[in-house]
Amino acid sequence: MKWYKIPEIQNINEPFITKIKAGGKSICLVGFEDRIYALSAICPHAGADLSEGLCVKGKIVCPYHRYTYNLETGKGGEGQNDFVATYLVELREDGIYVGIKSFWERLSGR
Ligand code: FES
Repeated sequence: MKWYKIPEIQNINEPFITKIKAGGKSICLVGFEDRIYALSAICPHAGADLSEGLCVKGKIVCPYHRYTYNLETGKGGEGQNDFVATYLVELREDGIYVGIKSFWERLSGR
């Protein structure tokens, strides 16, 4: 897994939704209830930018058609049969890092 330091976020103790680029991916970062979640910013339904959505009860709500995705698991809401990729987040002394597995690591389950 490769770790990427993300740009500093202002008012990190307040709820936030923002988009970053790391490892060639568009990642939606969500600060919710004292945790930071990282998931793909691209909605699998029709490609909307999830970082322009809302966060409601532990889920990101897509701005286009209101599909929802669990912040922790990426699992789509009931009846959607879809998901978004999620990424590990680490808070280190020098900043916040997002961990992205390579294609081969995901394929082998490492
Ligand atoms: S594009 Fe996200 S729900 Fe349709």
